[in-house]
This record gives sequence, C-alpha cells and structure tokens, in this order.
Amino acid sequence: MNQNNVKPAEGKLGIMVVGCGAVATTFMTGVLMARKGLTKPVGSMTQYDKIRIGKGENKKYLPYSEIVPIAKLDDIVFGSWDVYPQNAYQAAMYAEVLKEKDIEPVRDELEKIVPMKAAFDKNYAKRLDGDNVKDCKTRWEMVEALREDIRNFKKANNCARIVVLWAASTEIYVPVCEEVHYKLSDLEAAMKADDREHIAPSMCYAYAALTEGAPFIMGAPNTTVDIPAMWELAEKTKMPIAGKDFKTGQTLVKSGFSPIIGTRCLGLSGWFSTNILGNRDGLVLDEPANFRTKEVSKLSTLETILKPDWQPDLYGHGNDEDTQYYHKVRINYYPPRNDNKEGWDNIDIFGWMGYPMQIKINFLCRDSILAAPLCLDLCLLSDLAARAGRYGTQRFLSFFLKSPMHDYTQGEEAVNHLYQQYTMLKNAIREMGGYEADEEID
Ligand SMILES: NC(=O)c1ccc[n+]([C@@H]2O[C@H](COP(=O)([O-])OP(=O)(O)OC[C@H]3O[C@@H](n4cnc5c(N)ncnc54)[C@H](O)[C@@H]3O)[C@@H](O)[C@H]2O)c1
Repeated sequence: MNQNNVKPAEGKLGIMVVGCGAVATTFMTGVLMARKGLTKPVGSMTQYDKIRIGKGENKKYLPYSEIVPIAKLDDIVFGSWDVYPQNAYQAAMYAEVLKEKDIEPVRDELEKIVPMKAAFDKNYAKRLDGDNVKDCKTRWEMVEALREDIRNFKKANNCARIVVLWAASTEIYVPVCEEVHYKLSDLEAAMKADDREHIAPSMCYAYAALTEGAPFIMGAPNTTVDIPAMWELAEKTKMPIAGKDFKTGQTLVKSGFSPIIGTRCLGLSGWFSTNILGNRDGLVLDEPANFRTKEVSKLSTLETILKPDWQPDLYGHGNDEDTQYYHKVRINYYPPRNDNKEGWDNIDIFGWMGYPMQIKINFLCRDSILAAPLCLDLCLLSDLAARAGRYGTQRFLSFFLKSPMHDYTQGEEAVNHLYQQYTMLKNAIREMGGYEADEEID
C-alpha cells in the first residue's frame, strides 16, 4: 500500500441498520454467508472492482483494499432497530427474498440480531403497525434513547467503530423548511419542542449517530440528512454523511442509459417509467404521501444529465413543468411479485430533422439483491472516509445513490451521470490511497 494518512481498519466495525426488513436481512445474510465461504458478494465494488493507479509504465490495477485500508467482512458485527420484534432470521424468512437453503447455514448468527425498539411515529408510515417501539414523549427523548442504544451496542460488542445505515421504510415527504432545517440550533430547538411536523424519526437516528461519532447513510429518499442543519452537525462532529436512496434497478439503468442520448445529441420528448412491486416497501409506497418522497427522488435523475437550458432544441420540448420533456415515474403495489420488481421504461426520442423513435427497456430485477451490495459498499466506504478524516456530504458516494446530496444552498448541482459518478468514486479512492486523482481513460 502507498503512503496515506488513513487510520488502519483495526478492531470490529459495528453496522447498525435501521429497519430489519427485506434489504437489511438480505444484506446481513449475504455478508454472513460470504465470510463462511458459502456465497460470493457479487455486485459489491469494494469486493470486486479494480482501480488503476499510476500512469504509463507504472500503472497497476488494484482492488480497493490494496489501495486503502477497508474493513474486512470478518470484522463486521450487525445490530438493528425495527418496529417489528422478529429477529433477522425470522425477518429474512418473512421477506422471502432468499431461499431457505441460503439462510439456514447462518441461522444462529441471524437469530442473535434482535431489533432494538424503534424510534417511530405512525404518522410517518401509516401502513406499519408493529409495537416494538420506544416510549418517548418528545423527539429529543428519541435522540437520547438512540444515543444510548448506540453506546450500549458498541460496548457490548466490543466495536472499535460504528456506522448507522437507514434501510427502513420511506417516510412521508418532509419539505425542507428554512426556519427549522437550515441551522443546527433551530433543528435542536425543534427536537426539544417536539415539533413532529418538521422532525421525522429518521432525523433522530441521524442526529444520534453523528453525535456518537458514527457516519450516517440514508438509503431511502427521506430528506433526513439532506438539510443544512445536518451538514452543520456533520461538520461539527467531523463525521461523513451520505444519501439519498439506494440506486438499484430502474434508476441505475436510467443514469447509465440517458448519457447515450445526451452524448449522441439525440432529442428526448418523454420518458415514462413504471414498476410493479409487491414487498412491504411497495405497500408503504402505495400511500401517496410516502410515494411523493420516492417520486421526487426518482425524477431528479434526468435533470442534470439531459438539461433543457443547455440544449433547448433537444430537451426543451414537451410541457412538463420541471423538466420540459415529459418525465413520469409510477410504482404500483402488486403483491404476487413480492420483492421481484418489474420495471418498464418507454423512452420517446427524436433524431435527424425531428423524426421520432422509441426505446423500451423491461428490467425484471430483484430489489433487495441489487440493494444488498450497495449497503455493504456504502458502509465500508463511509467507515473508510471517517478514518481518512473526511466529513460532511461524501459526494464520491453519489455512484450508489438515486438522489445524491449536494449543497443546493450554493447552487451546486447533483451529479447523476453514472460515468461521472464512477470517476468521482475512483478519484476519491486514489486520493485516500495517497495517489493523484486523474481522468485518464482506462
Ligand atoms: N430494494 C431497493 O431496491 C431499494 C432501493 C432504494 C431504496 N430502498 C429503500 O430501502 C428501504 C428498505 O426497503 P425494504 O424493501 O427492506 O423495506 P421493508 O419494508 O422490507 O423493510 C423496512 C423495515 O423498516 C422498518 N421501519 C420503518 N420505520 C422504522 C423506524 N422508524 N425505525 C426502525 N424501523 C423502521 C419496517 O418495520 C420494516 O421492517 C425502503 O425505504 C426503500 O424505499 C430500497
């Protein structure tokens, strides 16, 4: 390994997952199976990808762990919170993502992951009715109870470091409110005043994590850490934050495919995306207020890749108020498919002299199978970032996220273009490894 200033990944890494549902249990089961040599962590960049370092005659392609010190799968300890009390084995069986034969070999370990009581407010996810919930009178009490959970977990499991990952349900849409969400002092005051309208339970998890010295990752589209008050807290505590919304199926395809249209200077008059999904996530998203959070996140992807103001001839047609071209996203709850989501994309493009053409994409994916490696990579890379002394929004993690965080108060734009995101990821790893960032073609 080259000279770098990253602290070594010594000791146990506690990964505390908010939500013990389909994504969380698929992630945990895969890690536990992989470290027994019973499966392969397919889809994980930290386990498979190789990055070029050096140039010309000196160039080498190395896995991430040979460039920077990444925690080993063997050092991970899982913890969890959920509204339902079932342990991770029961929850994995309930989710029906994985076959029994792929869960049984690690049953003992999964059974030991028993969710702690959730910081929950039913108004934020009306379709959930579990009772494994903390009895807190105010949002501030939630913060204090969660901080205690983190401290106790760290001590009981002898962890050197903790990362907190939100893989719980999508909360209802909380629009950013300047009076509450812009300054840390206002946010804290609202928590103490129990302002339930502006303080989502997820914000209590994030606040607790950062103040306990743990990076926080938002895997749902919730606005939680995507507010200036949380950026301020991340600066103050010197902790990394990342979000929002795992980029798994349809949006991964969108952020990888739309550059074809943009680079080739073809026109776009509309992009219609629809999905059917039958798991508990789909059930929660069937509620319009929860879907709104997801819709905002899914719609944002094209905005910075195909820009109407840059190319009005190509992307300025149509009447969509946000994007000029029509961009619609729908999710329909359809129980027979469970976690096996089917997505359809109809893309209306136009070419030379305005002649129309169509592209159809039909992706029969498995939601949690695509999300699990992202959970692993986001946790390992956030832990790495913390040891490298990086704090605040980790833009190099945009690659893994549907609606990447950026400083919208300074007019900064999100980077949604998959290949630009990959360049940012590789360069961050190079820099943390003590090498120079570059944009050379591999
Ligand atoms: N699978 C994907 O492809 C994908 C992609 C992007 C984002 N996501 C997001 O990941 C999240 C998890 O998805 P899933 O399929 O595992 O859903 P799931 O419904 O199976 O699991 C979510 C769990 O979170 C629990 N929960 C809800 N509120 C909580 C709280 N305040 N505290 C603790 N636990 C709470 C629920 O009880 C449930 O068990 C969702 O928000 C989803 O939108 C998933």
